[in-house]
Amino acid sequence: MSDTNSRTVIITGGSKGIGRSVAYRFAEENAKIVLIHFDPSDDACNETLDQLKAKGIEADGYRADISSFEAASQLFRELLEKHDNIDVLVNNAGITRDTLLLRMSEEMWDDVLRVNLKSVFNCTKSVIRAMSQQRGGAIVNISSVVGQIGNFGQSNYAASKAGIMGFTKSIAREVAGRGINVNAVAPGFIDTEMTEVIPEKAKENFLRQIPFGKMGKPEDVAEAVYWLCSDAASYITGQVIHVNGGLYM
Ligand SMILES: NC(=O)c1ccc[n+]([C@@H]2O[C@H](COP(=O)([O-])OP(=O)(O)OC[C@H]3O[C@@H](n4cnc5c(N)ncnc54)[C@H](O)[C@@H]3O)[C@@H](O)[C@H]2O)c1
Repeated sequence: MSDTNSRTVIITGGSKGIGRSVAYRFAEENAKIVLIHFDPSDDACNETLDQLKAKGIEADGYRADISSFEAASQLFRELLEKHDNIDVLVNNAGITRDTLLLRMSEEMWDDVLRVNLKSVFNCTKSVIRAMSQQRGGAIVNISSVVGQIGNFGQSNYAASKAGIMGFTKSIAREVAGRGINVNAVAPGFIDTEMTEVIPEKAKENFLRQIPFGKMGKPEDVAEAVYWLCSDAASYITGQVIHVNGGLYM
């Protein structure tokens, strides 16, 4: 891993929110950027790509459901053919389907576990051989504070995000010998479309529990992700870095 200007960086869920900020952060080093999303339309992704291209960045976007092993494998096969190296994978795609367990359907459980956790397996498995052969790389998985402390109405989401932490630590052990570091970033309460839908009362309740007394910005998370993929963090693996304003310490 080196801070050259030619790293290829794949960001799942890169069309908007945290993933978009991560893309903009890597653009500052002139990385080649690949965005994957599954929004109903390509609009947000195109907007992000336009911003990147305006900065002279080589960037591509793909709409694919990476919770499907088939779809993810197929897309990553294409990406590996197109790019000589995959230097960084940021597993950031995620969804919520919140409700109390009493009301949670099997579908709500399965959807969240599939998109948030299985996609991390699908994408990591798709790049790990290539990264191992190139003997270097960085993987950052986006977990959540909720995976650590739980949350009312989010048992499916919390389980998926706690799963990411266990997966991260296991893969970190498996590939350390290949010079690959694997870490997780666990954001707290970040201002994106995902949190826009939280009712005002619940938001106020959250804010009261955050020592900094405010929501985080996607850029706060992007900075931690970027740092974990830099030479400055080359001796760090299997960690969960919390970016949460002190909500959990
Ligand atoms: N916003 C927060 O407060 C917060 C807090 C903790 C963790 N997170 C996590 O950070 C990540 C990004 O969150 P965000 O707030 O930017 O969300 P967002 O809703 O703004 O963006 C989600 C992204 O994931 C993509 N995606 C969803 N399902 C997909 C699928 N099946 N295949 C491919 N892409 C898919 C979407 O297309 C989009 O690009 C998520 O994993 C989320 O759980 C967010």
